[in-house]
Amino acid sequence: TAGKSGYDHYMHKEIHEQPESLRRTTQGRVNTLTGAVDFEEFDEDLFAGVTQVHLVAMGTSYHAAMYAASLLAARGVPAYAFMAGEYSLMRPPVTDSTLVVAVSQSGETADTLDAIRRARSAGARTLAVTNVVASSLTRECDDSLLIRAGPEIGVAATKTFSSQVTALMLLCERVVADVTGTPSAESRDLLESISRLPGDIQAVLDTSTALEVAQAYAGSEAYFFIGRGVAHSVALEGALKFKEISYEHAEGFAASELKHGPLALVTEHTPVFVIFTGRDDEMTLNNAKEVQARGAPVIAITSHTDGDIVDLADHVLTVPETHPDLAGVAANVQLQLVAYHAANQLGRSIDKPRNLAKCVTVE
Ligand code: G6P
Repeated sequence: TAGKSGYDHYMHKEIHEQPESLRRTTQGRVNTLTGAVDFEEFDEDLFAGVTQVHLVAMGTSYHAAMYAASLLAARGVPAYAFMAGEYSLMRPPVTDSTLVVAVSQSGETADTLDAIRRARSAGARTLAVTNVVASSLTRECDDSLLIRAGPEIGVAATKTFSSQVTALMLLCERVVADVTGTPSAESRDLLESISRLPGDIQAVLDTSTALEVAQAYAGSEAYFFIGRGVAHSVALEGALKFKEISYEHAEGFAASELKHGPLALVTEHTPVFVIFTGRDDEMTLNNAKEVQARGAPVIAITSHTDGDIVDLADHVLTVPETHPDLAGVAANVQLQLVAYHAANQLGRSIDKPRNLAKCVTVE
């Protein structure tokens, strides 16, 4: 119990450590005045000449990779996220101007290491984004970026996801600046929001009504999570967290995909968590209406405290207002808490879920 600092589970402790771990992730790296990102581990203009970025990862790290790929692409840099296990089989073409970024908390995931080896032998430039100094991944990649989240004991990744997304966001801004010769137009706003993120996450932790939500929907048939843009990856991550520790059926979907199949599963017994980021909220609200019309309870994750979203939702999990690119991080913390409380009230083995391991070293 000593190592849990009074919390019943490492996962709960690690969720609450996020303001601190995020401070470490960004420390000394953010210049809010100029919009520049400074990584002491990288040479100047390290990413100049990069023409496309492949992000390879598994599990929660894959969701962080997806998040980053959508941000880079929105800034005009062709970027794609791949499940590392599939990447090795697919072998998408790479050149010496392809940057392959391996995202891995442990730096030891076999599929991710294999993807990097193949990318290297095909001539790509490689970068490890990891939490573990001197892990296999850092040794095998050309360069490394540490997310500095601190040790994570719970099998379900929590604080490392937030730090991965934040570190990758900084990396995206740096790549864009090196490729184009100047920080992106969004950079200053985004970096300012990033510097406020630890406080925003603290506000979520202090005020969350996730326990109430978990209690209200205990015993449901299934739990669905939807979002668009960066919130798509958060929907997948929210569902992954929920299923891995509660053992309940949970699925995440792109909100746009809903009517192409998943809607057939939606009933009054399937609560739907709808993630709003402040971008394209109207379209997401329409999706919320579609599921509500089928009887499903809607839990909105939003910074709004009144208006259409709040009026429609059965429950609201509030997050501080921030840059839309960053909104997914605080939303995800709410979903971590919902998953935690849902699993806790079912008496699950939260820190060591059945059949799962913290680190998967076989392909
Ligand atoms: C396992 C863990 C997950 C993790 C995934 C990738 O499945 O249970 O929490 O996201 O491996 O691990 P990595 O260390 O590469 O991030």
